[in-house]
Amino acid sequence: MEGEKSTKKGLKIGIAGKGGVGKTLVASTLARLAGRSGKFKRVLAIDNDPSLNLGMALGIPLNKIGAPIAEMKDLIKERTGRAPGEGGAFKLNPLVSDIPDKFAVPGPDNVRLLVLGTIKDPGSGCLCSSNALVRELLYHLVVQRDELVILDFEAGIESSMGRATSKGLDLLFVVVEPGQKAIQVGEKITAMAKQLNIKHVLAIINKVENEEEEKNIVQDLKERGMDVFASIPRSNAVIEADLKGIPLIDFRENDVAVGAMKGILDNVVKKYYN
Ligand SMILES: Nc1ncnc2c1ncn2[C@@H]1O[C@H](COP(=O)(O)OP(=O)(O)OP(=O)(O)O)[C@@H](O)[C@H]1O
Ligand SMILES: [Mg+2]
Repeated sequence: MEGEKSTKKGLKIGIAGKGGVGKTLVASTLARLAGRSGKFKRVLAIDNDPSLNLGMALGIPLNKIGAPIAEMKDLIKERTGRAPGEGGAFKLNPLVSDIPDKFAVPGPDNVRLLVLGTIKDPGSGCLCSSNALVRELLYHLVVQRDELVILDFEAGIESSMGRATSKGLDLLFVVVEPGQKAIQVGEKITAMAKQLNIKHVLAIINKVENEEEEKNIVQDLKERGMDVFASIPRSNAVIEADLKGIPLIDFRENDVAVGAMKGILDNVVKKYYN
């Protein structure tokens, strides 16, 4: 039953939103909390962002993280028949099922990280074989794996939203922060995700200062047709942890922002994984 939601098939969560809204914080903290909870067979965090900082946010030393799959020229050639940039026909459905286990790096709390890299704009030269491999891998990850998969999407996500996301994602969290730019990008992503028939497209408001601000944003998002799932308060601990280069959950486990994300994970499990 390909594409049907079933708990045995795991749970696939995408995290999207404008640049800088807190996608990586949310993806990494949810992954770590989920790993600790013991509720999932395995937890796989996927970095689909060009800045490749999910590893650091998870607490995996940089020297343990290899090149993104999208840039492994030999692998791309082996699997698709063509190196990136090389002309000619290439396989559209390359073998990918062994890639997560071969290339994922183990991190704290039993979370594993797979650095995927991004789907490149065709305008930047013919990277078609690299894109084909990344697309097929995304599809495999969200449709065929039976674990918790958390995808930290690149800001904007237009290029990654496609067959994979529409078929396999159980939910897409659209992260917004106070401010019209982030809200407008969130609205656009939400509309696109709904067109792709992603089952649950839910907003998370991050960096909330106070209740008044939260109330206003919730109202604004509702008027734009967005469902709000939760809010995460602005917290200095996030900034301090960032400065030290350590995960928030290791820096201050009882921080309010961690607490909010615990609530998010509990509600996700209750509503979508039972
Ligand atoms: N709740 C919060 N309170 C305070 N600062 C926060 C909070 N959430 C995120 N930040 C800060 O906002 C910045 C962006 O966070 P993060 O890297 O998680 O966002 P992102 O959406 O992944 O960004 P990018 O699009 O660049 O990948 C970081 O400097 C982080 O410390
Ligand atoms: Mg990020």
